[in-house]
Amino acid sequence: MSSLSDPDLQHAHPQDHRSGAVAGHVEEHRERTLRVSGLQVSVADHLVAVQDVSFEIGRGESVGLVGESGSGKTLTCRAVLGLLPDSGHVDEGRITLGEGAGSVDLTAAGRATWDEIRGARVGAVFQDPASYLNPSLTVGHQLAEQLRVKRGLSRRAANLRAVELFGEVGLHDPGSVFHQFPHQLSGGMLQRVLIAIAISCEPDLLIADEATTALDVVIQAEILTLLRRLRETHRLSLLLVTHDLAVVAETCERILVMYGGQIVESGPTEEVLGDPRHPYTQALMSVASIGSWERRTLDVIPGQPPAAGEQMPGCRFAPRCPSVTDRCLAGPVPVTDLGEGRLARCVRLADGATTPISEELSA
Ligand SMILES: Nc1ncnc2c1ncn2[C@@H]1O[C@H](COP(=O)(O)OP(=O)(O)OP(=O)(O)O)[C@@H](O)[C@H]1O
Ligand SMILES: [Mg+2]
Repeated sequence: MSSLSDPDLQHAHPQDHRSGAVAGHVEEHRERTLRVSGLQVSVADHLVAVQDVSFEIGRGESVGLVGESGSGKTLTCRAVLGLLPDSGHVDEGRITLGEGAGSVDLTAAGRATWDEIRGARVGAVFQDPASYLNPSLTVGHQLAEQLRVKRGLSRRAANLRAVELFGEVGLHDPGSVFHQFPHQLSGGMLQRVLIAIAISCEPDLLIADEATTALDVVIQAEILTLLRRLRETHRLSLLLVTHDLAVVAETCERILVMYGGQIVESGPTEEVLGDPRHPYTQALMSVASIGSWERRTLDVIPGQPPAAGEQMPGCRFAPRCPSVTDRCLAGPVPVTDLGEGRLARCVRLADGATTPISEELSA
């Protein structure tokens, strides 16, 4: 289903810089929940902030999206949710939810389609749960309202289901939580309420963008455990955005590493983190390996990432790359299929460099 024979992908060669053909595949046997192919997003007067982003998420699969601040993670998520900022625009590419007869091209979706899909087939949780809730309505009312509107439940059935869902996401005494207003709940409780709302209509895909960043470490671990459990019990596909590689290592089967608006490396989490092949991922890992790396953020590599709209003829990581060569600056960098579900966007890997770059760097 995600093979190179897919008609969408036939135009692309495995080392073509338009990386549709090498889109971070789901495994052959797995039903596909989401395919993003050649996505380009611009903001504020056509500044390109996300370019040539391609990836897939399989049913029940969890995929981690990491990268420094400003690398385009949130815009990618918002493009999938049809929630770009006013100045944002999908210039190119296709976002497809599901596969086969029930699939929907989200890039062509109008308002009515979005009303059907958002919440019902795709749910989302963000960093600041309070700002997504109405302060003047009880949280139970807000969840029950969603169940009435999207699932057509009666008032009574919606209220009962809301209490059940609050219990399911680990809120103690869900019957009293139902009657509370957002300001009466802690950050961790509010995030559980938002997760309950996000999963209430049993979506296929849950997008969690820094959903645990603002929470303390213990609550963060509890929320991640909850997401893992929901993925198993509901066969949810999960796109998890985080700055924390340890969170990806614990939670995600596959990882996408973003830099300067592009995915520069992707593959099974254990393999990518155990043997990173792109110099940027290697830099991330070396930063992360200093001392106790588990909770370090990614924002400490010397130099600045390119700004949105910054045009560069070659590799966008070149100005910070320890192994940059003239060829890196010459033109668009192809995505190389490294085998076993691994992809990387680096000139030297495209040449089929036989010496693993990680060894060269540490020599
Ligand atoms: N509404 C907007 N107007 C102008 N530029 C924007 C807007 N939203 C995002 N950008 C720019 O697009 C780029 C990608 O932003 P995005 O929010 O996707 O990054 P991110 O990877 O989610 O970063 P963070 O880790 O800080 O959340 C950044 O350079 C950002 O400044
Ligand atoms: Mg963000």
